[in-house]
Amino acid sequence: MFLKALISLLIFALGAARHPEAPVARGNTPPINPAEYTAEYWINEAQSGIKKRSQHDPDQNVARNLIMFMGDGMSIPTMSAARTLKGQRAGNTGEEEELFFEGFLGVGLVKTYCVDHQVADSTCTATAYLCGVKNNYGTVGVTAAVSRHDCEASLLEANRVQSIAEWALAAGRDVGIVTTTRVTHASPSGAYAKSSNRHWENDAEVLSDSEDPDKCVDIARQLVQMNPGKQFKVILGGGRREFLPNSTIDEEGHVGTRSDGRNLIEEWQQDKTNRDFSHSYVWNRDQLMNHFDSPPEYLLGLFEDTHMQYHLEANATTEPTLEEMTEIAIKMLSRNEKGFFLFVEGGRIDQAHHANYVYLALDETLEFEKAVIKASEMLPQDDTLTVVTADHSHVVAFNGYTARGSSIVGLSDQPDSHGMPFMTMSYTNGPGARGTQGNGIRDDIREETDFGQLRWRSHADVLLYEETHGGDDVAVFARGPHFRMFAGLYEQSQIPHVMAYASCIGPGLHAPGCNAATTIHVTALLFAFASLAKIILTNMIL
Ligand SMILES: *[C@@H]1O[C@H](CO)[C@@H](O)[C@H](O)[C@H]1NC(C)=O
Ligand SMILES: *[C@@H]1O[C@H](CO)[C@@H](O)[C@H](O)[C@H]1NC(C)=O
Ligand SMILES: [Zn+2]
Repeated sequence: MFLKALISLLIFALGAARHPEAPVARGNTPPINPAEYTAEYWINEAQSGIKKRSQHDPDQNVARNLIMFMGDGMSIPTMSAARTLKGQRAGNTGEEEELFFEGFLGVGLVKTYCVDHQVADSTCTATAYLCGVKNNYGTVGVTAAVSRHDCEASLLEANRVQSIAEWALAAGRDVGIVTTTRVTHASPSGAYAKSSNRHWENDAEVLSDSEDPDKCVDIARQLVQMNPGKQFKVILGGGRREFLPNSTIDEEGHVGTRSDGRNLIEEWQQDKTNRDFSHSYVWNRDQLMNHFDSPPEYLLGLFEDTHMQYHLEANATTEPTLEEMTEIAIKMLSRNEKGFFLFVEGGRIDQAHHANYVYLALDETLEFEKAVIKASEMLPQDDTLTVVTADHSHVVAFNGYTARGSSIVGLSDQPDSHGMPFMTMSYTNGPGARGTQGNGIRDDIREETDFGQLRWRSHADVLLYEETHGGDDVAVFARGPHFRMFAGLYEQSQIPHVMAYASCIGPGLHAPGCNAATTIHVTALLFAFASLAKIILTNMIL
């Protein structure tokens, strides 16, 4: 027993530091359609989806503001269980409860596979839902013509794709990113980074793969020094270590990871000073709250050296909630009359699932929901399009057949065929795999000393140091202009194109109301002109 625990701990410790490099074993599988290696293929695929669905979309409004809420790994069983937990925390049976965004009327499903993998990671999906192009596992902001680790190919202009954040900036909108993970981690990196390896968050990682960090620039440096990252008005999350030299100790006593000696937090501040913008860097919640009433033009908040803490374990003095970060980001971005694009990630739903911490995954989902509620309270539906989605599924299962109202994080009513109990929420794989007592009889989980505690791992079938993502579809919920366009089952890479359509940005098709919106502006201008003339005339008469 002890040895088994030690081995699984070791496997976990070895693996947990890095997302697994899934092998590309293609064997005798049929060839991939070569067109998928181009951006055009996915862009055209999205445009034809837009053409088809727009015939059933009577909406004449357009979206000035765009918000994408992305629950990392928020699979459908995760939402079903989270809504049940929400109801049970309120003292009810729970199953009848609703997550706020489940009430949105635009509901669809998306296919999450990436070009070289049936089951995606969070960078190929980020490229799909933020750049509108599918690509290879472990790569971001580049087409599938770039294989993982191929620095040279990622530098070719034809292989680099733009994100919806770039489309928004080009249209004069403001942009922000908010996450509970490192701001350089897979999902948020899709908004600004082009890299053939998601692990190149700092230059030392680039060097360790024998590549030149001045050529294939690491993700943190891309965020601070390059476009579009240096134009982002608000950047909130974790990941201080990727911005600091390995000789620097941060505010909480952790050492930086960079070997190029750069202090990118200082560089970020210097850039805003040079460009004469008010700005602030904050590293804890109290400092963030000091800016709540009148935030500066630019704000960088890095609240942990790596990912932010799980909400249930977080130090409330140092860690803001996702809801608080979302609120201040919206306050800042709303100052632009042309509108904005904001990306908000509940990033630790995924990480809790990877560790088989099902209760933490559900609680993170409910924290994510609070951020969506806050945003919806702050912004009117008639010109803000809110899209809530996930990047990929997980192999968490909602098992039968427990009685109505039973604890969603408790045991199933029914024991297994050997009389041993099992959990209503369990996993197909992960570090929570247990041994058996021989004859296939499972150990009794109730006898484990940490049974039911926050970091108790629910049981899994196959032992893996990290539970895997799932290949099944994830949901999309939309509210605001053109919400109907999100109905149906389609490729994940259509999402940003549909958002761009509704918001009159980007290179693709735009909603009919986009022309009307221009007309309205001209009318408003004429009206303003007439009023001005009237004032001048009145004054002249006087
Ligand atoms: C820190 O960076 C220096 C270069 O600035 C490098 O020589 C050294 O190996 C790095 N140390 C660690 C622990 O990575
Ligand atoms: C929270 O962090 C602050 C600042 O580091 C520290 O002083 C305080 O003791 C921490 N609180 C808890 C409950 O750990
Ligand atoms: Zn993951």
